[in-house]
Amino acid sequence: MKPRAGTGSVTKSVTKKLYIKTYGCQMNVYDSERMADVLAPLGYGLSDNPDDADLVILNTCHIREKAAEKVYSDLGRLKPHQQRKAEDGGRMIIAVAGCVAQAEGDEIMARAPQVDMVFGPQTYHRLPEMISKAKRAVGEKVLDTDFPPEDKFDHLPEERVRKGEVTAFLTIQEGCDKFCTFCVVPYTRGAEYSRPAATVLQEAKRLVADGVREITLLGQNVNAYHGDGPDGREWGLGRLCRALAEIDGLARIRYTTSHPRDVDDDLIAAHGEIEKLMPYLHLPVQSGSDRILEAMNRKHTAAEYRHIVDRLRSARPDLALTSDFIVGYPGESDQDFADTLKLVTDIGYAGAFFFKYSERPGTPAASMREQVDDAVKSERLSTLQQLLDSQQEGFNASMVNRTLPVLLEKPGRHADQLVGRSPYLQPVHLDIPDSRHAAMIGTVIDCTITGLTGHSLFAVPVRDGQAGSDSTNSSNTVDSSNSGSPTPDSADRGQERISA
Ligand code: 5AD
Ligand code: SF4
Repeated sequence: MKPRAGTGSVTKSVTKKLYIKTYGCQMNVYDSERMADVLAPLGYGLSDNPDDADLVILNTCHIREKAAEKVYSDLGRLKPHQQRKAEDGGRMIIAVAGCVAQAEGDEIMARAPQVDMVFGPQTYHRLPEMISKAKRAVGEKVLDTDFPPEDKFDHLPEERVRKGEVTAFLTIQEGCDKFCTFCVVPYTRGAEYSRPAATVLQEAKRLVADGVREITLLGQNVNAYHGDGPDGREWGLGRLCRALAEIDGLARIRYTTSHPRDVDDDLIAAHGEIEKLMPYLHLPVQSGSDRILEAMNRKHTAAEYRHIVDRLRSARPDLALTSDFIVGYPGESDQDFADTLKLVTDIGYAGAFFFKYSERPGTPAASMREQVDDAVKSERLSTLQQLLDSQQEGFNASMVNRTLPVLLEKPGRHADQLVGRSPYLQPVHLDIPDSRHAAMIGTVIDCTITGLTGHSLFAVPVRDGQAGSDSTNSSNTVDSSNSGSPTPDSADRGQERISA
């Protein structure tokens, strides 16, 4: 996915073209946007294609298989453009960023000599230095894969290039100390780190001042958030959401991705109390079998997961859940898989992502002997997909004839059409004359859902002419390997899930 080009109202003269390709999850999208912010003062403006870019950044993801191979094939495709630029007397600097860079920095340098810079997820605030180093001499390579994330957040610019958007991501936490046996995140993103609450609140206020109405808080393990509070105490995610909810003009709060172990009493209470906290929660379980959950080092049982869901639903009865599932984890038996199907049937999901287990080098599960045959994985994936798809279809169909608050985000593909989001992230299409769009975008209006196609809902405003009467109290390229499901948010926001 590409950060959107050219909407910035920051008045810096653009003298150079920047192309960023983002692979993977929302956290990488946030990082790519912030890289663009760091580079704007140097005259770099975002471009939609790499052809004659002065700087190309591939912001990579390593969560599932073949990530590195995709990066090498993209690098191959860039070669002729880089050569043409050199023949014309210019220079295209190529950088590989993100988790593949963190994990395989030296190898990238060795295998892809046209790469000038390799840097990990925690160092992009140093981009200006890296660029000037790379520019000083052709052939000088820059490798920066240091870890401490606090440096990065302390040095990112406040000013943002993109303005005029209704929704925004805000990273509040990075890294993970959980070490699930299948997952590379603790190795590529490092130890858990939470940003201080005051800086998160400042960033949120700035976003709202720029017109943002919905903020999605991001973290690989977002509900492990434990930032320093302005009152000198440690704040959890529930406390942070309460403070964010007090920001006038902010209509909706979401967060992703959570770990069941870190759903604490205060967060559950927050779901019951904070109207702005949307009733839509991504809570990965990965498997319904206790044996597999233990082997995965998930630190919770299926019964504990069910109990957390029950408590969340008691606090917020309209809460809809989504999840991640892995099939074919080493040693997964037919019975283990049946336990997963049973859990899915009992919980009832509004959407989900599901993956065949794939070996990630360096993780404990990769060296386990009992790897499951690929044909078995495929069969289980398709069975699980059918069940989850039918639950999602049922969930979407249950919206018809209901009245939902819809945050209006942008014009639709057709004339006289507006697109917004339900509380459950479903795209909602409304027939509204173009002349009224400017006044309506960014408002939340109550709509009656009249029908649906696929994952999209169609609706009419409950009261015509609701523009301006904001009823907030009613409440780029996807690069996914190895399957997954088109949940409403993934389909339209083009994203993979963050881990947890
Ligand atoms: N194999 C398959 N799926 C994986 N995920 C993470 N690592 C692996 C792996 N090695 C999935 C998990 C996680 C999501 C982001 O990606 O379901 O929640
Ligand atoms: Fe951490 Fe989530 Fe990866 Fe587990 S799956 S190690 S909780 S990021």
